[in-house]
Amino acid sequence: MTATDRREAFRQPLSESARLHEHAKKVMPGGNTRTTVHLDPYPAYANRGHGALVVDAEGEERYDFLNNYTSLIHGHADPDINAAVIEQLQRGTAFGMPTPHEVELAQLIVDRIPSVEQLRFTNSGTEAVMSAIQAARAFTGRPKIAKFEGSYHGSYDYAGVSTLAPESVWDEPAPLSTAYYHGAPQGMLDDVVVLRYNDTEMMERLIESHKSELAAVLIDPMPWRMGLIAGEAAFLERLRDLTRTHGIVLIFDEVISLRAAYGGVQSVVGVTPDLTTMAKIIGGGFPVGAVGGSAEIMAVFDPRGGKPKVPHGGTFSANPMTMVAGLTAMQKMTQQEFDRLEALGAYIREGLAEAMDGARVEGQVTGHGSLFGVHLHRRKLSDYRSSAGTPPERARVSAVYDGLLAHGIILAPQLTGCLSTPMTETEANLLLDAFSSALRETEA
Ligand SMILES: Cc1ncc(COP(=O)(O)O)c(C=O)c1O
Repeated sequence: MTATDRREAFRQPLSESARLHEHAKKVMPGGNTRTTVHLDPYPAYANRGHGALVVDAEGEERYDFLNNYTSLIHGHADPDINAAVIEQLQRGTAFGMPTPHEVELAQLIVDRIPSVEQLRFTNSGTEAVMSAIQAARAFTGRPKIAKFEGSYHGSYDYAGVSTLAPESVWDEPAPLSTAYYHGAPQGMLDDVVVLRYNDTEMMERLIESHKSELAAVLIDPMPWRMGLIAGEAAFLERLRDLTRTHGIVLIFDEVISLRAAYGGVQSVVGVTPDLTTMAKIIGGGFPVGAVGGSAEIMAVFDPRGGKPKVPHGGTFSANPMTMVAGLTAMQKMTQQEFDRLEALGAYIREGLAEAMDGARVEGQVTGHGSLFGVHLHRRKLSDYRSSAGTPPERARVSAVYDGLLAHGIILAPQLTGCLSTPMTETEANLLLDAFSSALRETEA
């Protein structure tokens, strides 16, 4: 049996993953509890991970360039994070009281991101985005938000609008507010103005015409689901001017992009938002989120003197397990470590582009820092529609994804990926070799 055959073992009807999925289907709809990790007909189940590697239920190892959707910046079972968590485990996992660790982690983030003067922790990025939208509404007294077609911000009702934008609505002169789930109330859709990414003219027009009703514009400066297209500097600067002029809160969703640079992508593009949402790497592998920004806006959460403008709780918000894991993870992410990952990321991005040239495959590579994305076409990438891919392109993306899995590499199914600190040029070269092989086999 070749290595590739072994890695395909989970697809066999008698595999442990097949058995687990049969069982899962009985107790969870579609055998699934997290839509993102569903793969047809079923995914490989994870057994354990260490460093850059994940071992599936069949015992097969793969290099993990997905890192639980970018959250594990130190890979799996990092010894320092484990030690901190085990120590905390013995001291208690959750209290109906604040702990010193949340103050320390908040201070670390405030020190790194100048736009974040104060912050609050949540249990997920979804909740962080929800709290940011609530804060913007409470601060401005306005009902609506604007967001960008195709941009994913978690599953909070308003933030979910137009995350999916089917081609059937592309003929409209401006993007329609489309529901993320069946039964979404029309009132909610009416309260979300949908813009197109990097389209300055449309953004100006729609923000001007809704300016007195808009509490916030929510934007991811490097959206993963759009294949890590970058928000162009002039576009982001214009967005900053417009929102400032009209008293609209500018929210940068850096749930993923925070891992791209020491101060997040906002430090790279030089645009300062009013609020920033964070999650993933700041939890060191544990469930987390945070919303932070100017002290003036964050005051809506201040409980001193009676009921705050935005009451915000959460039984597990800032729980000490997450806080010690996050603190350890972030302390290890020094400026030098960000620089090392940036250099390794650049090496991978160049290598992926060269591999496509070598295989005479039309394509391009996106990303920054430890993040990278592959697109199997050469259209100018500016927004969701330009990155979405035609049906044949999407079929090739799937084939390359399957090929990478068979060669021992895990990326996201849309071919976006990220690095973890245990990785070096050795793992990068394994990815590049596997990518070249998967391309050759797909084109054959
Ligand atoms: C940009 C962005 N915002 C928000 C979220 C939601 O975060 P969570 O999955 O922690 O709820 C995600 C999740 O991937 C994200 O990528």
